[in-house]
Amino acid sequence: MSTYESGTTFVSLFYALIKAAQVYDLGNDVVQHGAQRFVHFLNTLLNLYSHIEIIRYRDYIFFNKQRLRFQIDGYASLQFLHERMKHLKIRNLVFKPGVEKEEIIIFASLFKDEDSFLKEYDRKKFHHVCVEFSTGDEEIPEFLRDSERIKRTYFKALAVTKNLLQNLWTRQPANVSSSRRIVYNLIDSLSHDEFGLLALTTIKNFDEYTYNHSLNVGVFSLALGQRIGLSKKDLAQVGTAGLLHDIGKVSIDKDIIYKDGKLTENEWEAVKLHSQFGVEQILQTRGLDETGLVSMAVCYQHHWNVDGTGYPRRKGTEKPFLFSKIVRICDSYDAMTTARVYQPIPYLPHIALRVLWQLRHICFDPVLVKVFIQLSGLYPLGSCLEMSTGDVALVLRQNPGHFSLPIVKIVLDKNQGPIEGPTIDLSVDKHVYIKKPVYPQKYDINPAEFFMKSPAGDSEVKIA
Ligand SMILES: [Fe+2]
Ligand SMILES: [Fe+2]
Repeated sequence: MSTYESGTTFVSLFYALIKAAQVYDLGNDVVQHGAQRFVHFLNTLLNLYSHIEIIRYRDYIFFNKQRLRFQIDGYASLQFLHERMKHLKIRNLVFKPGVEKEEIIIFASLFKDEDSFLKEYDRKKFHHVCVEFSTGDEEIPEFLRDSERIKRTYFKALAVTKNLLQNLWTRQPANVSSSRRIVYNLIDSLSHDEFGLLALTTIKNFDEYTYNHSLNVGVFSLALGQRIGLSKKDLAQVGTAGLLHDIGKVSIDKDIIYKDGKLTENEWEAVKLHSQFGVEQILQTRGLDETGLVSMAVCYQHHWNVDGTGYPRRKGTEKPFLFSKIVRICDSYDAMTTARVYQPIPYLPHIALRVLWQLRHICFDPVLVKVFIQLSGLYPLGSCLEMSTGDVALVLRQNPGHFSLPIVKIVLDKNQGPIEGPTIDLSVDKHVYIKKPVYPQKYDINPAEFFMKSPAGDSEVKIA
């Protein structure tokens, strides 16, 4: 079930319970059954989400950041909830794990009128349901501001990465601690909106490949680390290591790194030395701590394959450690999907995923590849798709639980004219399906530009 479907079902069950609690005694079977169904559904959702949050903002209702549309189906319940929340000056409702039937019945019964709600809500002391009241009527919800904040964090991180590498290149003192700070900001953005941050990895600057690549590998490593449940401290380490994995390239002749053509065998051997040079670069930084040591290990091992091949050479028994295996995958994926001098046409994202999958057990850790594909979905963010309708769409967000059915935005009509088309949740709208992924260049579309322009809170989804 998509977030959208979960949201509409949640609202209609809550509406039924409130109505029942207004009409019948709280001990009546209708109320008891309504509460039972609601709690059962809520607990199912709480296996997927840490909590459920309903936000009212202007004329909208958001369910876990997903805007619900007023459709014929479910109109009454959504309209009722919106009107009640507005009337009671409720800004948001949060349902946490542990809600029981008795607690939710009392809570639902408060929705009668303003006086009883305000008085009783404070008096009853609910433990698993929280209400936040409006102070002003039009406060923009925090998460709608996230989109802009995430973009700022990404570009700040890009500037820090660029500055760090440029300083090292010109043998000036590099401020490594600023890269740590920025990694914590990225972790924060990721916890707010994983897809919002990942969307920005579609920014691939041909001329400044090294900087964008370093940052994108850092971002992917954080996202993959988060998916496997790393602690914040470990995330900071793997993120920093991802950011610094190619730092050794600053010790290599710039003419080779930026050579406009195929590398000779000798030049290629020189490039391979960046793994060792990375260790040296980090050793030279002041105040070497645990994160620095981890980054050194990742610099050294990030071209090691799980089958024992790769460079630098090693003893047969030596294996890359977890963070190196994470960076190995993220590094390869970003490199494959980016145009470079010797790869003018990059891999389409779904093909790059297929390569990762085919080379699991050989180059990449199979479990981590699986998690990476779950994270990216079958059609990663920014993928350009030809739809069954003839329209062309971009993948906007993944759909948890439906990894081949993302949320897409129609950007070209069937005559290939640019349009501000609808956003479609393909797990909901079964009339439209993906015909095939295509190169965005074929239609003169730049997914990165699209994500940069897309307005905050673009989460309105068309439903069949
Ligand atoms: Fe590398
Ligand atoms: Fe790399």
